[in-house]
Amino acid sequence: MNTAEVREIIARHPEPEGRVAAILEEIQKKYRHLPEEALRIVSGELGVSLTRLYGVATFYAAFSLEPKGEHLISICHGTACHVKGAKNLAERWEREVGIKEGQTTADGMFTLEAVRCLGCCSLAPVFSIDGKTYGGVKPDQVPEVLGEWKGGGGR
Ligand code: FES
Repeated sequence: MNTAEVREIIARHPEPEGRVAAILEEIQKKYRHLPEEALRIVSGELGVSLTRLYGVATFYAAFSLEPKGEHLISICHGTACHVKGAKNLAERWEREVGIKEGQTTADGMFTLEAVRCLGCCSLAPVFSIDGKTYGGVKPDQVPEVLGEWKGGGGR
């Protein structure tokens, strides 16, 4: 982590309204998590307690204190997806990438996470990769989708 970069991010968000969230969002995007050192700098610069920053960081699902993978695979376990086989789909993903939901691969390429309703229930079961939504995918099609992302063609 580069402290000068964090200070630049802070300087880019002078507006008082929503300042903390905007700064944390940009740090999360840049480092794929919120490093403690970055939170300490934000705390010092903004005069916001570290406890409050950790409160924000742990309340919102978009923030993570642990580094996330380069690609975020979000598997929906909402009601519609659950009924349409989200569990089998999640298990296939876990087998293919070799980690459990909530974990990141050792090479830092992929993070698997379980989420509640991605907002397109009619396509159930649904998952998304870096925000790109996939609906109605059968577990047997998971290797093909993963292959696209490993090859850099999934975006
Ligand atoms: S329940 Fe999965 S998208 Fe809504």
